[in-house]
Amino acid sequence: MSPAVSSIILLCLVSVSAVLSADLDALKSLSESLNTDGTSSWNTTDGNPCYWQGIQCDGTSVVNISLPGMHLSGVIPPSIGQLRSLSVLDLSKNDLSGEIPANISSCTSLSIINLTGNRLSGPIPSDLSKLSNLSLLDLSDNHLNGSIPDTLGSLRNLTYLNLGHNALIGIVPSALGNLNALTFISVSQNALEGPLPESFKNLTSLQTLLADQNNLSGILPALHWESLQWVNVASNNLTGEIPASICSSASLQSLILSNNGFSGTLPSDLGECTALTNLRLGRNALTGDIPADIGKLQSLIYLDASENYLTGQIPTGLSGLKRLALLNLASNRLVGTIPDDLGNVSTLQELRLAKNSLVGVIPHDLSQCRLLSVLDLSANNLEGGIPSDLCSSTRLEYLRLQGNSLSGHIPDSIGDCHELLELELGDNRLDGTMPSSIGMLANLQVSLNLSSNHLSGSIPDTIGTLGKLVTLDLSHNSLSGQIPSMAAMISLVTWDFSYNLLSGPIPRVGSVLNSSSSGYAGSYAHNPGLCGGPLPPCVPPNGQSTKSRRSSFWQVAGISAASIVVVLLFFFFVTMAVMYKRRAAVTVEATPPQMVSHVFVPVLLQGVDFVSVKEAVRGKGSLVSSNHFSTMYKAIMPSGLILAAKHFHCADKGLLFRHKKMAFDLDKLWRLSHENVMQPVGYLVEENLVVVLYDFVPVCSLGQRLHESSTKVPLNWSMRYEVAIGAARGLAFLHSCTPPIVHMDVNSDNIFLGHHFEVKIGDIEVAKLLDPTKTMASMSSVAGSFGYIAPEYAFTMQVTLQSNVYSFGVILLELLTGKMPTDEAFGEGLDLVRWVEGASSRGETPEQILDSRISTESFVARQEMLAVLKVALLCTDGSAMKRPDMSKVLELLQEAKMSKK
Ligand SMILES: *[C@@H]1O[C@H](CO)[C@@H](O)[C@H](O)[C@H]1NC(C)=O
Ligand SMILES: *[C@@H]1O[C@H](CO)[C@@H](O)[C@H](O)[C@H]1NC(C)=O
Ligand SMILES: *[C@@H]1O[C@H](CO)[C@@H](O)[C@H](O)[C@H]1NC(C)=O
Ligand SMILES: *[C@@H]1O[C@H](CO)[C@@H](O)[C@H](O)[C@H]1NC(C)=O
Ligand SMILES: *[C@@H]1O[C@H](CO)[C@@H](O)[C@H](O)[C@H]1NC(C)=O
Ligand SMILES: *[C@@H]1O[C@H](CO)[C@@H](O)[C@H](O)[C@H]1NC(C)=O
Ligand SMILES: *[C@@H]1O[C@H](CO)[C@@H](O)[C@H](O)[C@H]1NC(C)=O
Ligand SMILES: *[C@@H]1O[C@H](CO)[C@@H](O)[C@H](O)[C@H]1NC(C)=O
Repeated sequence: MSPAVSSIILLCLVSVSAVLSADLDALKSLSESLNTDGTSSWNTTDGNPCYWQGIQCDGTSVVNISLPGMHLSGVIPPSIGQLRSLSVLDLSKNDLSGEIPANISSCTSLSIINLTGNRLSGPIPSDLSKLSNLSLLDLSDNHLNGSIPDTLGSLRNLTYLNLGHNALIGIVPSALGNLNALTFISVSQNALEGPLPESFKNLTSLQTLLADQNNLSGILPALHWESLQWVNVASNNLTGEIPASICSSASLQSLILSNNGFSGTLPSDLGECTALTNLRLGRNALTGDIPADIGKLQSLIYLDASENYLTGQIPTGLSGLKRLALLNLASNRLVGTIPDDLGNVSTLQELRLAKNSLVGVIPHDLSQCRLLSVLDLSANNLEGGIPSDLCSSTRLEYLRLQGNSLSGHIPDSIGDCHELLELELGDNRLDGTMPSSIGMLANLQVSLNLSSNHLSGSIPDTIGTLGKLVTLDLSHNSLSGQIPSMAAMISLVTWDFSYNLLSGPIPRVGSVLNSSSSGYAGSYAHNPGLCGGPLPPCVPPNGQSTKSRRSSFWQVAGISAASIVVVLLFFFFVTMAVMYKRRAAVTVEATPPQMVSHVFVPVLLQGVDFVSVKEAVRGKGSLVSSNHFSTMYKAIMPSGLILAAKHFHCADKGLLFRHKKMAFDLDKLWRLSHENVMQPVGYLVEENLVVVLYDFVPVCSLGQRLHESSTKVPLNWSMRYEVAIGAARGLAFLHSCTPPIVHMDVNSDNIFLGHHFEVKIGDIEVAKLLDPTKTMASMSSVAGSFGYIAPEYAFTMQVTLQSNVYSFGVILLELLTGKMPTDEAFGEGLDLVRWVEGASSRGETPEQILDSRISTESFVARQEMLAVLKVALLCTDGSAMKRPDMSKVLELLQEAKMSKK
């Protein structure tokens, strides 16, 4: 090599590193600030950064930093402003936190900024407006707050602006209407107020406008409908009419106005919107008729205009909608008949016309809709029979025809609807017998409701094979004969046979979950000949005595331990009561002491005054919490000491005789010190009074905080997460003791929260102090609280470590959904677990079941909630063996926080 050539090369190398030095410094500090472990090629001691992963240079300077989804964390350093030639900055889908540095506005060459999917907070720097070359700005899915700076309106080259899913407040600045190159704008899922600016009419290139899930109000302004293709302003408080011009050019493909206050009629020229695939207008206050030429919307796939005040008839000509999959006109004021030609819409999957005033018959042609999975015509005035070939659409999952005036027989062919999950035919005028083919609907889960009809004859035995069914209602008919065996109906939670002509003994039902404190005699009421179970006993033909009946009970239990029945449960309590009385009779020999009391903790001994304790539980202390078994008061001692005093409502009277055992048990609990377990420090027992003392005075229970907090703001996600971790720690600790301590009643009212948000599990002693005779009416006393009871309890009658895990899973679901463990709104017989499990069959995504008040806090909150949801589903697995143990649960929960997609 000649010296000349080598010196040229040397010169080049020198000049390369020299020019890059400012950029190199910036990259070095970027590397220090972000955790770049994942990007191993970032060797800051190695001269030329142009070879680092995700970095591109143009000759001498860095022009492109693209590191999407690299698990980077840390903050974006202000030194980034030194990269004067940087044109592309893509740090999307990482774990960046802190604010967007204002210095970024010094990177004057920037044309693309993509920071979506991080945890960036603070305001949007108003100096971003200096980036005059910026064409794409994606800051969506972060925690940005403050208002949208109106200086952004000077970014004349901006074509794409996404500020969606942050915590932005204030109004949408009118200046954004200056961004006339804009083709895409999203401000979805923030807390923006006020109207959409009129200046948006000037956005003549705009194709996509997304502003859903804010608090926007006012009318939808005139927009440049000639260019708009996708418009979503759902879930705001927008009012006024749908603008007449939306279809002036046929560019519109998706228009979503659902869940606002839009009024007036549908645009008369709707039929001109020929490119429209998705039209959702549900939950508004729209009036008037559905335009007749809606049948011209050949591209339409989804049409939802439910929950409005639409009148008139369903237009004919819908058969022109060759791609229609969803037609939802439910909850309007529609009259007339269901058009026959709907049967020609072969693509139809969901037809929802419930809650209108439709008359006439169910068109036979509907059976030609082979893809139909939801047919909901309930609560109309339909007459005639159920078409016999309805089930030729074998995909039918939901058939809801209740609340009409349908007559005739239930067709035998109903058994062809193999996929059916719900069959609702109640409240009609159906007669004849129940076809035995109903028993072939092996997938029926949600409900089988044939109530309030004129059905006669006997209930087919095949009903008893519906092992997945949760709710069965055959009430208010004229069914006669015996109720068939229901032992295989292991999922059944509620059933109703009342108001029929049934007779004979009440059969065993697979599950005892239905046990409620009110008893179920009502489920069988008004039948002339039913007996046994909750009803008066059947008169045995050969006059057996009660005693031999009970021994036959033991035989049954022995033969079939795996199918415990309601009847059995009843006898269980009777037996317990009898046994208890006998034992009490034996022990009464010694005269009991008048009162016993004890404080275990030496340092508290001086401070406790039992007279004050008694006054507190007799109403002088302020109430802290109350549940089925006990009420907790704040008790202030004369010494100034404050304790929590728990008064048991129906404590075991035998305690006075056995107080030494009780002292031993409580003392043991006190010695098991753990920060997440509420430990007793003393007790007081008198005749009619059992009080346990604690040194921790809770502010409220988790149940109260979650479900009764109408005045307070909802618990945010990080607090809910801390509660979950605290409770899991406490339970894991109890389970790790030798021998393990099984909590008898894990529920959200037994998780207590302190002044400094301490989380403690309470009521661990409950099982030892209750009087079984007083709590007989409620199975909760042995199994826990309703909605928290693990399914296997029905077979085992034992609360186990695994059933604690199940109950804990229910608490996780409460934290995630904000819902109570049982709620009528879940649908008949469903509890929270089943409701959550049923989400996908209802077409809901996991996101949709989360408490939207907190899942919308941030992208990260939502991700973590979804991860915790997975844990909750593991815990509530129907099979006890498949549930993780509590220490594993704790570990999984901790991972949920750390993991970040
Ligand atoms: C970084 O580069 C220097 C010099 O090229 C080299 O000695 C060192 O081993 C590299 N470090 C890593 C982690 O690759
Ligand atoms: C920036 O770099 C990324 C990956 O290194 C590449 O995919 C992208 O096309 C580049 N952008 C431009 C504008 O060159
Ligand atoms: C950030 O910008 C300010 C003002 O433009 C400047 O003084 C400062 O040096 C910059 N910081 C860095 C780290 O570049
Ligand atoms: C920003 O990055 C994300 C993920 O890396 C990508 O999905 C998104 O399309 C990008 N935004 C734009 C406008 O290109
Ligand atoms: C702006 O971008 C264009 C190309 O998109 C480029 O030619 C021009 O140099 C850029 N201007 C600045 C100031 O970087
Ligand atoms: C927009 O970008 C073009 C090049 O694409 C550039 O010439 C022009 O100066 C930019 N506009 C503004 C307002 O900076
Ligand atoms: C639209 O742009 C024109 C001209 O640029 C301007 O005069 C008018 O005020 C703008 N309209 C709105 C509503 O901002
Ligand atoms: C919606 O707007 C109306 C007035 O237009 C107002 O009375 C109502 O309170 C608003 N609702 C919400 C939830 O902001």
